[in-house]
Amino acid sequence: MKTIIANWKMNVGVREAVALARGTLLTLRGRKVSPGLVVCPPAVALSEVRKVLARSSANLGAQNMFWEQSGSYTGETSPRVLNELGVSHVILGHSERRQLLGETDEMVNKKVLQALEQKLIPILCIGETSVQHKEEMTQGIVRDQLLAALQGVRLRSSDVLMVAYEPIWAIGSGEAATVPGVLETHQFIRSLLYELFPQASKTQFSVLYGGSVNPDNAYAFLREDDVDGVLVGGASVKINQFKGIVQAAAEVLEAKLAE
Ligand code: PGA
Repeated sequence: MKTIIANWKMNVGVREAVALARGTLLTLRGRKVSPGLVVCPPAVALSEVRKVLARSSANLGAQNMFWEQSGSYTGETSPRVLNELGVSHVILGHSERRQLLGETDEMVNKKVLQALEQKLIPILCIGETSVQHKEEMTQGIVRDQLLAALQGVRLRSSDVLMVAYEPIWAIGSGEAATVPGVLETHQFIRSLLYELFPQASKTQFSVLYGGSVNPDNAYAFLREDDVDGVLVGGASVKINQFKGIVQAAAEVLEAKLAE
């Protein structure tokens, strides 16, 4: 299976989100095989987008959540509310939140624990900065972030964990990582996950790539077995570009069926 996560960030209002959700669903229409789709609108649009996605195969995702079920946490969104809104996935630890809003590994860890507790699928984002990339520190950074975020996590056999490898220098820059670079890091992430959770089934983990994915480079990433999907930001709010990415995923899946 290949999964495409559409991270709309703060780029759409509620009305635009509804229209975009309709357009996003149209990209699946008439296909023999479709990738899994997770649509992540801004929190305020979740409830309206849910109505559009109802009865489709697409899943609803949130871009963030708080680590408590309720309480005096002004401005935060609880997992309880996400469950109530039909959300199945939640992006956690996105670099924009880490860099702009001071989200720490410890906070991300509490969120991952709570998400799993509430039966939400975490999409845990990790990745190195441009300086760290140039200094070839990627594996060390990715390992530290992964171990910190997953501290104390015990995966039940029904749990699913998605990890999105998103090099910070590739996000929104138009400069995606290279396929060999992504594969090397994905294999490394996967080996860490197997080490951390020896009792879990390999199908409980997905490792996705994110960072300037577009219709021109999507196929090259998605055709790789080590890339379970892509997390798409900018191109997910431009319907023609998103359609090209869904098309690329469909072609990969069709080719695999024909093998
Ligand atoms: P981008 O964003 O596709 O615009 O690079 C990816 C992300 O931030 O999740």
